[in-house]
Amino acid sequence: MNSKWREKRLYPALGIFSILGFLYLNFNDHLDFALPVLVWNLPKMGFVGVNYTRFVLLEQETPGSPAAEKNLYVNGWNSYWFLEESAGGQSRYRVSEMLKRGADMGLSVCRTWAFSDGAGPNTLQIKPGVFNERVFKALDYVIVEARRHRIRLILSLVNNLNNFGGKAQYVKWAEEAGTNVSSLRDPFFSDRTIKGYYKAYVKAIVTRKNSYTGVKYSEEPSIFAWELMNEPRCESVSCSPALQDWITEMAAFVKSIDQRHLVTVGLEGFYGSNSSQNYVMNPGDWAASLGSDFIQNSAMKDIDFASVHAYPHSWIPEANLEAEVKYLSKWADAHIIDGQKVLKKPVLFTEVGGLHDRDVILKTVYDKIYESAKRREAGSGVLVWQLLTEGVEEYSDEFSFIAWKYPSTCKLILEQSCRLKNIPEGSTNGTIHHKDPCFS
Ligand SMILES: *[C@@H]1O[C@H](CO)[C@@H](O)[C@H](O)[C@H]1NC(C)=O
Ligand SMILES: *[C@@H]1O[C@H](CO)[C@@H](O)[C@H](O)[C@H]1NC(C)=O
Ligand SMILES: *[C@@H]1O[C@H](CO)[C@@H](O)[C@H](O)[C@H]1NC(C)=O
Ligand SMILES: *[C@@H]1O[C@H](CO)[C@@H](O)[C@H](O)[C@H]1NC(C)=O
Repeated sequence: MNSKWREKRLYPALGIFSILGFLYLNFNDHLDFALPVLVWNLPKMGFVGVNYTRFVLLEQETPGSPAAEKNLYVNGWNSYWFLEESAGGQSRYRVSEMLKRGADMGLSVCRTWAFSDGAGPNTLQIKPGVFNERVFKALDYVIVEARRHRIRLILSLVNNLNNFGGKAQYVKWAEEAGTNVSSLRDPFFSDRTIKGYYKAYVKAIVTRKNSYTGVKYSEEPSIFAWELMNEPRCESVSCSPALQDWITEMAAFVKSIDQRHLVTVGLEGFYGSNSSQNYVMNPGDWAASLGSDFIQNSAMKDIDFASVHAYPHSWIPEANLEAEVKYLSKWADAHIIDGQKVLKKPVLFTEVGGLHDRDVILKTVYDKIYESAKRREAGSGVLVWQLLTEGVEEYSDEFSFIAWKYPSTCKLILEQSCRLKNIPEGSTNGTIHHKDPCFS
């Protein structure tokens, strides 16, 4: 990282910083940091890779020895609000609090938004390619705090929905710049100007140098993967070729500037009507009309793993719990089998949400993953949607909850974390440390 002479010259200063860093790491769970954080005071983490249908943890490369790899099955969660809350300044300790609570439940991956587009005091991208540096530092903070708690982040790069700007904001920017998009059905996926905005955004994020650690995001092991978009959907089936081309182009673009991190699309897992017989697995006919297709959209080489969401309650509102669970089982099986046999890639359930029946819904998918993991197959993990901490209730939706207010759910989550870690040779062994709740 540093050349030798620099290390020598900086030696006395580094000594002091190391001590401060040590104090920070050991005694400071909340304090906002103004000091640079020294990378070697943060936990060592390897990068995550993919071997066939499994996530693997690549050991820190040591000169002269081949990189060893260990299987990694994921138990994790979503907290989309980290950037927003971190940008609020005063209350950013809640991000650290949530990460600590997650780690206490044995969770290892958190999915969160690395975007907020448009006008507003706390938005990251104010105009195309124009950033609020204070908010960028807030994202730096989220990444350092994740590393400090040994959590890896899946960072989503734009929203399909209008919250935090999303693709509608990109279209608006293009129109304001004089681009006529009225002839296009879903211009975000097909207009050249807008694609250029998106690429410039992605490049700014991926090549960002963290202001606290000096580590580029593209070299930060606490980033698990880049997600191209949260829940891409088209306005109609007719835009599905444009969506497919967009995914191909953007995944290749991310890989061209970052070869170390995994890339995923951000799909909900719906099947297009062209996708063998599997569209019968969709929750309704509407799902095949969104222009996405789990198989086709996940198949290209630059997409490292496939994602699935699951909201049986809102997808099939007329169903009772028994019917929901039956449906969810089939939905999960179909995707795991597709990952194993068709895509030959890991499949991560990146959003699973339930209401009063949350434990039953979660356990249904947890069991599928555990069974798949025991066979070393493609079902690679679940991220619950979504966890809050006290004081951030404003980010709530009907599926959000403060986990520790539901002891049975907490227990279920911790049990899943630990049984995945306990699979023989399941070797998250490499990540076990004195604070691991499954082994302490
Ligand atoms: C992938 O996993 C298999 C089975 O564990 C192993 O034999 C192989 O060496 C791994 N591939 C790479 C590139 O490490
Ligand atoms: C935009 O393009 C459409 C069709 O391509 C055309 O009918 C319309 O007049 C254009 N609008 C402007 C403001 O140029
Ligand atoms: C379905 O497949 C056919 C033949 O490959 C193709 O022409 C058509 O555009 C596809 N439809 C959709 C909605 O992807
Ligand atoms: C970690 O791996 C070692 C060697 O493979 C094994 O002996 C040990 O039981 C493992 N520990 C856990 C907690 O799985």
